[in-house]
Amino acid sequence: MEKLIIKGPTPLKGEVSISGAKNAAVAILPAALLINGECKIENLPNISDVKLYCEILEKLGAKITWNTNNEITINTQNINCDADIIEITRKFRASYYLLGSLLGRCKKATVGVPGGCKLGARPIDLHIKGFEALGATTNVSQGNIYASAKKMKGTSIYLDFASVGATINIMLASVLAEGTTVIDNAAKEPHIVDVANFLNTMGADIRGAGTDMIKIHGVKELHGGSAYSVVPDQIEAGTFMLAAVASRGDIIIKNCIPEHLEPLTAKVVEIGAHVEENGDEVHVWCNKRPGKTVIKTSPYPGFPTDLQPQMGVVLATAEGTSIINEGIWESRFQYTAELNKMGANITDQGKSALFQGVPKLTGAPVCVSDLRAGAALIIAGVSAEGTTEVLNLEHIDRGYENIEEKFRKIGANIQRVAL
Ligand code: EPZ
Repeated sequence: MEKLIIKGPTPLKGEVSISGAKNAAVAILPAALLINGECKIENLPNISDVKLYCEILEKLGAKITWNTNNEITINTQNINCDADIIEITRKFRASYYLLGSLLGRCKKATVGVPGGCKLGARPIDLHIKGFEALGATTNVSQGNIYASAKKMKGTSIYLDFASVGATINIMLASVLAEGTTVIDNAAKEPHIVDVANFLNTMGADIRGAGTDMIKIHGVKELHGGSAYSVVPDQIEAGTFMLAAVASRGDIIIKNCIPEHLEPLTAKVVEIGAHVEENGDEVHVWCNKRPGKTVIKTSPYPGFPTDLQPQMGVVLATAEGTSIINEGIWESRFQYTAELNKMGANITDQGKSALFQGVPKLTGAPVCVSDLRAGAALIIAGVSAEGTTEVLNLEHIDRGYENIEEKFRKIGANIQRVAL
C-alpha cells in the first residue's frame, strides 16, 4: 500500500501530454472479441483497468502481445465462450461491456454484477432492456448476470436516459446481429464515437455515433487485420486544465482534442482564467483568484460529471459562493468532506453542493473515495499551503497513467511512498 506526499502551494507550469482515453479503452478491448482475427490497438493508457481487461480477454482465449506499454496486438480467433471470468469481472464497472460483446460473439455471457466507483445506485436496467429487445433472455441471480440468445435480431431501441454504458453495450451486441438496430436518444460522448470508429475500422457498419441516433447494420463477420489508435482522454486533459486554474499556474496540454473540452473551456473562461486552443494543444493560465459560477453536470456536450470534483477544488478557493448541481450521479460529493479538512467551506446537499470560496487551502491527510475524487485531491494538495497526504491510491491508478510523474513534470512537489 502506498500514499502520496504533496507539498504546496505550487503554481503548475510547463507542458503535459495526454494519454489514451480510459473510457474508450475499456470498451474497445471487449469490442475486440467481436473480431474473428487479429488487430493492433495503439495509444492504450497504461492503467490498471486496461491490465485487468487484458487478463480477462486472455482467460477467454485471446492471444495478446504487448508491443509497447501502450500498444497490443490481439488475436481473438479462438475464443472459449464458457471460460469462467465471474470473479475478475466483479472488480470493475466496465466489465459490463463483456455482456454485449459475448452476446454478439457467443450468443451467451455470464459476468459478475460489476463493481467500480461508489457514485450511487448504478443500475444496468437500460443495458438489459436493450439486450432483451435484440432477442436475448437475461437473468440476475447469486450476484451474476446470465444472458443468452438463439439469435440476435436488429430492432429499434429508445433509451430512457442517454446512458454511456447502455449505448456502447447495445452497439456491441448488435454489430453481428441480423438486420439493423437503431439506438434512439443515444449518448454522444467522445468515447462512444471512438468505439464505433474502432469497430468500423474492423469491418462493422455503424452510422451516426456522436449523434442521438445511431444505426448499426448487422454484418456477418468482423475481419480485423487493422490498427486503431485510442482517442486522447478528454477527462485527463480537463483534469490538467483545472489543475492550472486551481494552482494559478500556466500549462500547455498536448495531444488532446480541444473540441471535446468545450463545455469545460466555456466555464474556465467565465470564471476569469485564460484558454488558447492550438491544433491538438490547449494552453491554460490563471494569474488571479477565479470568480464564482454555477455548474450543472449533464451528458455530453454538457459539463462532464467526471470533471465535477476537479472543478470543485477550483470553486473551493474562488471569490464568492458557487453551486454545483450533479445531474448524473446520486452521490458524487464525497470529496467535499476531504476538502473541508483542508479548510474549505463546502456544504454537501446530496445532488448539489454550495461552495463558499475561501482565500486558501491548507495541507491535511485526505482519503480518496473514487477515481475523479482522487485527481481532485491531488490538485488540492498542489494548491494548498503545507503538506497533504493522499491515501487509497488504487482508485487513482485505475484511470490515470503515471499521474504523479506528470504532475512532477509541471513543477509539483509530489512523492509516492510506501505506507
Ligand atoms: C460512464 O459510466 C463512465 N464510465 C463514467 O465515468 C461516467 O461518469 C458516466 O459514464 C457518465 O458520463 C465508463 O465509461 C466506464 P451512464 P456509466 O450509463 O456507463 C443511470 C469515471 O470516472 N443509468 O451514462 O455507468 C445511472 O444510474 C467513470 O471514469 C440507469 O439508470 O454511466 C446514472 O445516473 C465514473 N440505468 C446515469 O444513468 C442504466 O442501465 C448515467 O449512467 C444505466 C445508467
